Amino acid sequence: MAIQWFPGHMHLTKKAISERIKEIDVVIELLDARLPGSSANPMLAELTGHKPALKVLNKQDLADPAITPLWLEHYNALSATRAIELDASETSPARRLIDACHALAPTRGSMVKPMRVLICGIPNVGKSTLINTLTGKRATKTGDEAGITKVEQRLVLADGFYLWDTPGMLWPRIIVAKSGYNLAASGAIGRNAFNEEEVALELLDYLLKRYPQALEARYKLAITPDMADEQALEEIGRKRGAVLTKGRVNLQKAAEIVIYEFRAATLGRITLETPQEFALWLAAGKLLDAERQVKKDKIETSRLMRLKKIPKPNSRDQDRELKG
Ligand code: G4P
Repeated sequence: MAIQWFPGHMHLTKKAISERIKEIDVVIELLDARLPGSSANPMLAELTGHKPALKVLNKQDLADPAITPLWLEHYNALSATRAIELDASETSPARRLIDACHALAPTRGSMVKPMRVLICGIPNVGKSTLINTLTGKRATKTGDEAGITKVEQRLVLADGFYLWDTPGMLWPRIIVAKSGYNLAASGAIGRNAFNEEEVALELLDYLLKRYPQALEARYKLAITPDMADEQALEEIGRKRGAVLTKGRVNLQKAAEIVIYEFRAATLGRITLETPQEFALWLAAGKLLDAERQVKKDKIETSRLMRLKKIPKPNSRDQDRELKG
């Protein structure tokens, strides 16, 4: 799936994080509890090195309450890592964030040795909403792609507790195909950057396997074990009156309905990946990525050889390499 990224902001964000990180004690990464693996940013780990990390599974009110504990357990088992779940209905989340950061960096948090925390997250994960709650302000713009923080801000959460908000945003290079679909379904990607029908089919494919009862309850679908995602989308369209001339289903409209109702949790509280599933997708994605890289390297090598920028391998050298 072709997704347009926003590389313009990336440079600014990367620079800001790498400059700030030296004096940071804990990195808070906001994740979407419905897709923790896919909403994490692998580039962040590269930029922040081995700094203690607090994973905040945000929007937990939308996620499956049976799956969120699996993700918390997964993160809490990693070294120098803690995880908590959160949602916007929590009116004073500061105490829990402060306590979790203290557990990760117990020597910090006094006036002499303040706790310095960096908060990051991909767009739409709820960072502005959380910061507004923490500061008790309505200053940060929420809920649209243009509302990107342009400058670094420092917030004082308590005496000796400073929170830095990173400017811009950090989009990962997505190597797991399923992550692209899950991010699009969640609302993290602008609607012009993906194909709704494709995203709805991927979403239905997962829901048919993991949440058939939610589809039955909402759309009164008669689900059979071999029901395909295309068939489900057609039936949903028909049931919801998304019909064109000659009885053809308006698949675009049907797709919009499914995506909208997933996002609004009208379908119920749903999580699109378990730690185990994500680990498998990631391993497959890394393998494919490595294969793609080998192909790219080969093309680049032959280009450079054609331009005589690097010598062609000598057949005797190749023989010697093969022998030993
Ligand atoms: P960002 O700064 O990380 O980009 O995200 P922002 O706070 O703007 O939040 C994005 C959307 O998610 C907002 O909805 C916001 O109200 C919603 N949101 C944030 N935290 C939570 C949460 O814990 N639970 C739920 N259910 N929603 C949350 P919006 O303004 O309606 O935008 P959109 O839904 O149209 O994208």
